[in-house]
Amino acid sequence: MKTTLSIIKADIGAIGGHLCPSKAVLERVRQYVAAKSKGLVIDSYTTYTGDDIAILMSHQRGANNPEIHSLAWEAFRQGTEVAKGEGLYGAGQDLLKDSFSGNIRGLGPAVAELEFEERPNEPFLLFAADKTEPGAYNLPLYLGFADPMYCPGLMLSPSMAKGFQFIIMDVNYTEGDKVIELNAPEDLYNLAALLRDNHRFVVESIHSRATGEPCVACSTTRLHNIAGKYVGKDDPVMLVRTQAQFPATGEVIAPFALAHYVAGDCRGSHNVALMPVKHASPVAYFDGPALVSCLSFCVHNGKLTEAVDVFDHPFWDLIRQKASEKTLEIRRQGFSGRAMVGIEELEYGGITERLEHLESQFSIRKPPTAKSKR
Ligand code: F6R
Ligand code: MG
Ligand code: MG
Repeated sequence: MKTTLSIIKADIGAIGGHLCPSKAVLERVRQYVAAKSKGLVIDSYTTYTGDDIAILMSHQRGANNPEIHSLAWEAFRQGTEVAKGEGLYGAGQDLLKDSFSGNIRGLGPAVAELEFEERPNEPFLLFAADKTEPGAYNLPLYLGFADPMYCPGLMLSPSMAKGFQFIIMDVNYTEGDKVIELNAPEDLYNLAALLRDNHRFVVESIHSRATGEPCVACSTTRLHNIAGKYVGKDDPVMLVRTQAQFPATGEVIAPFALAHYVAGDCRGSHNVALMPVKHASPVAYFDGPALVSCLSFCVHNGKLTEAVDVFDHPFWDLIRQKASEKTLEIRRQGFSGRAMVGIEELEYGGITERLEHLESQFSIRKPPTAKSKR
């Protein structure tokens, strides 16, 4: 029987603006999942990063299972009632539809699911990011699964020698799932050409080419495609199986030491360094910085071990320092150039409205006449 890991996350309200959920909201979600799990979920773990609550569930019902999705949806609805009662900011923010219709995709919450035959030892990582977009994982995944500069296992381990297949989604397409399958290493330049554009092309999943097994699943939700307007950044979650025929945990997390620039932060409209943070970190600077947490587990017969907080180590203090410096440096230039995202990615309509208004005040200057020339 295959094991499925489902991670489902939503922002259902936060303290102090968009900082972090209250203890009572988190507890309500946790209790609801625990109370309704019997016969459905083998194990679960509920946590938060920034203002997003993530529910991890292990079960045997496969991906896109209505009962599993409904459980998460109902837990978020219950949490929203507590958030409303406490007067939290943005209560129920990511629950964009009124009713559940069999699958939580397209209703607001973000989902990533991996279904697999358990290995005797099954380590995996759960990433949760806040104040950024799904494409924030593009570069770390490219480096961790396709570049021997970061992933020596591609050279050293015979079980990884065939490389990995990337499935990439064009998230601007809203009529359905528009995806492409590319193989590393043959398609490296095509991969790079797509993955450079974090706003539009997003890694949805990665599979071993040796065995066909899935090893990465990322959420690809674009909230503004669902709501038709800005309702917060997409704040992606990701599951990664590691070790043996997959990159080692160390190879998967190594690229996060770059603290690369991603879109997000205040009003979802800036470019800042992605900071690897400790588990359950709130938001701190400029409605950010864009942050990512990583918990590691093993799963055995569907049972989860305790979680280990990967970025809670002195090594990552240095990276946090670097990320702060990179973010402060680009923030020094305020609205200018690359400090903000391009016009097509701006959250909030204010600048577009201004530009439309100013358009009527522009005039086309006439070229000088021959008479005025000497
Ligand atoms: C939230 C975010 C924040 C908000 C900002 C204004 O994810 O990125 O920067 O955009 O705090 O929030 P509102 O529009 O709710 O007042
Ligand atoms: Mg929020
Ligand atoms: Mg958030």
